[in-house]
Amino acid sequence: MCGIVAYTGSKPVMPILLDGLKRLEYRGYDSAGVSVISRKKLKTIKAAGKLNHLEAKVDRNISAHCGIGHTRWATHGGPTDENAHPHNDTKKRFAIVHNGIIENVEALKASLGKATKYNSETDSEVIAHLLTQQTGDLASRVLAVLSQIVGTYGLAVVDQNNPDTIVVARNGSPVILGIGDGEMLAASDMSAIIRHTDQVIHLDDGELAELTPGGFKVMRMDASITNKEAITLKDLNAHYDLDGHPHFLYREIVDQPGTISQTISGRLDERFSTAHLGGLNLEARDLIGVKRITILGCGSALYAGMAGASMIESLARIPVVAEPAAEFRYRNPVIEQDTLYIVVSQSGETFDTLAALREVRRKGGFVLGIVNSVGSTIAREVDGGIYMHAGPEVSVASTKGYSSMLVAFSLLALLLGRSRDISPQRGTSIINELKQLPQHVQQVLALEPDIAKLAKRYKKSSSAFFIGRTHGFPIALEGAQKLKEISYIHAEAYPASELKHGPLALVTKDTPCFVVLPNDDLLPKTISSIEEIKARGGPVIAVTSAPASESERIDKLAKAVIRVPDTGELTSPVLFGVVFQLLAYHSAVSLGRDVDQPRNLAKSVTVE
Ligand code: F6R
Repeated sequence: MCGIVAYTGSKPVMPILLDGLKRLEYRGYDSAGVSVISRKKLKTIKAAGKLNHLEAKVDRNISAHCGIGHTRWATHGGPTDENAHPHNDTKKRFAIVHNGIIENVEALKASLGKATKYNSETDSEVIAHLLTQQTGDLASRVLAVLSQIVGTYGLAVVDQNNPDTIVVARNGSPVILGIGDGEMLAASDMSAIIRHTDQVIHLDDGELAELTPGGFKVMRMDASITNKEAITLKDLNAHYDLDGHPHFLYREIVDQPGTISQTISGRLDERFSTAHLGGLNLEARDLIGVKRITILGCGSALYAGMAGASMIESLARIPVVAEPAAEFRYRNPVIEQDTLYIVVSQSGETFDTLAALREVRRKGGFVLGIVNSVGSTIAREVDGGIYMHAGPEVSVASTKGYSSMLVAFSLLALLLGRSRDISPQRGTSIINELKQLPQHVQQVLALEPDIAKLAKRYKKSSSAFFIGRTHGFPIALEGAQKLKEISYIHAEAYPASELKHGPLALVTKDTPCFVVLPNDDLLPKTISSIEEIKARGGPVIAVTSAPASESERIDKLAKAVIRVPDTGELTSPVLFGVVFQLLAYHSAVSLGRDVDQPRNLAKSVTVE
């Protein structure tokens, strides 16, 4: 959410900033801007809208070797040129870019007095004006300003009078330093750095760094120096691009046989018919001591957590709940020693999930992370966990990240199940199910032409329902989420059993109802729900792994049927999920939506 990039060195800065912003654009795309120091003058250029609006305004060849850039997701103030970052003080000596929220902005403005004129409606601009009130070098000024701020920030500052120095700081919003040869970079996200260097440092909350072409100095807020070790990035796909596909979302959907294999790779222990998850930092003794599990996440990560809860409960017979991280953290939760807490996050930076993690750890709870982004804040703060290894996810809507979360939960359910009641035979059959999953996903991908036809047929609907029962319900939630966020068709998910308690009133011939119909014990009951929808004239689209014996009945009731392989309770959520991803994708494309960057949204929600 909002992207920051900064560079100081000997190379022309503008192409580096623009390339960095391109890679960060998925974090926010309301507006973008840069400030560079050229011939001892600070120049700030910004533009509302996507990055190409800014690109049209800047001189790529400007003689400048130090600068900062920002891509914005609006929090305070609409997406206008004025509200775009960077922000300057009145005399245009300083430029700042800021991610986060300043909670005491009114008090800070009052301290500056009425004479200060603001050019934007943002909370961030106040920082630029406050810098003019301080003395000393740039780092001392920034430290003095930050001591007055209540709120969160990832911040980068340049000063016309210190033309090759950048100061960055972090409190609640990620900042990563990149160490080059005679150059330094900083960014809110690795993707803006990895083309330039594999040596990085993660700033921790309460740290500030001064960057010059010759190196860097990290300080705490009391100005004491702290020694930080650089880490070498490995296995990072530095050149992640469309790879010939029309959209990142499409690439991320069709890449799933490979990304799921990566999540599974090296984690199946065939000898003991279990999963091998070395990163958990839990002994067998700890695993049998787990009495309850609480899973925390936001959005699709929460829905993956709900599916995970169902898998673990069913296989390991441990009571599991999944809760929205943002609600959990504010309800003064009871933290218990024998409860295992699991936070789920693709980006590893979602603010509410991170805050929930911190709340649990503050109270002494043990927290595992299921995280994709290596070295992210959540990954660094958990007690142990499972990396998803799904590779970068750039499209705002999560697809391969979501599926790899489900796979990570399957592995954990297998491990917990085998540490308790399930037999080696059952363990082996789950291992086989997981081994075949990439192939099964490939089979579902082959259904794309049929799913695309459905998407076209129902694209004019103003509303759609997704229904399922027990472990089918989280799948329905994610199906509705995908459709609404990228096609903007209103979509709601319900447990099939709940329809008659209210939502059925909305079912008409114009509301397609997508029914999750796995081959499970509740199949006959879910089929009865289809009857209820059909009786009200609602078109039913059944997505099913039901056996042949039920096919005729389902075919009669449904307007359309999409058949997925009948695998098992651990892996079928992935297969149903892929159908709904393709449905959402084709609906969005046929409606001419901005598939990778849907309106009002941003990847990696680093504000509360
Ligand atoms: C939906 C989507 C979001 C994210 C949510 C959590 O497609 O992408 O709902 O799932 O913002 O993000 P992470 O997993 O990065 O914590």
